[in-house]
Amino acid sequence: MVNLDKYSSIFIANWKLNGNSSFLKDYYEKLKVNSNNCTVICSPSVYLKSLKRNNENLFCGAQDVSAYKEGAYTGELSASMLKDNNIDFCLVGHSERRQYFSETNDNVNIKSSNLIEENIIPVICIGETLEQKENNLTEETLSSQIKDSVPNSAIHLNALIAYEPVWAIGTGLTPTLDEINQVHDLIKNFDTKFRSFKVLYGGSVKSSNSKEITELSQVDGCLIGGASLNVDEFNTIIS
Ligand code: 13P
Repeated sequence: MVNLDKYSSIFIANWKLNGNSSFLKDYYEKLKVNSNNCTVICSPSVYLKSLKRNNENLFCGAQDVSAYKEGAYTGELSASMLKDNNIDFCLVGHSERRQYFSETNDNVNIKSSNLIEENIIPVICIGETLEQKENNLTEETLSSQIKDSVPNSAIHLNALIAYEPVWAIGTGLTPTLDEINQVHDLIKNFDTKFRSFKVLYGGSVKSSNSKEITELSQVDGCLIGGASLNVDEFNTIIS
């Protein structure tokens, strides 16, 4: 399992449903990993094996995993198959999966637990919608997502939490720096066990705001969507 304690910052590229062979070739030729940080590329699953791990701080991440371990579940990929293919990280409970694929906290909990059993680090995504934010339900929403989707086996060494406000994803909007720091602080104080967890921020992170976000005291890195598709932009973010 990757030694998370070794890194002060973790940057995860989530390509979502984007990319093809020529995009990958160009991207991996130009990618410049900074050895002080942990960099993870979550490509679509058919391209996971294309990542050239030419730097010990560059890792491969999946965007999802099956809640099932094996059997008649057409189209699924299990945690043990990801391990068998040297995948070290896996996103779980991304808001797009919760919204479009009916992923529940219970699914996220089982998937994360299966990943931990295979020594893969689940990146457990949580975040409030705009409606929840406007109704002052951010704390309640995050608290129940954490309580129900983080398995008992998760500790700061084998799991990550990513705070991604749903309203900030792909919109160009972000919470203020104070708000981000406060929410991360809240997450780390939901329970003593979360105090040492690394918590990443995601939602409209770009090269123009990544430095100030990453420098916040309670932020341990970023989960980047759209901006990670431009390798020059991503190189700047991780530099
Ligand atoms: P954007 O960076 O495009 O807002 O997406 C964030 C995200 O969903 C990363 O998982």
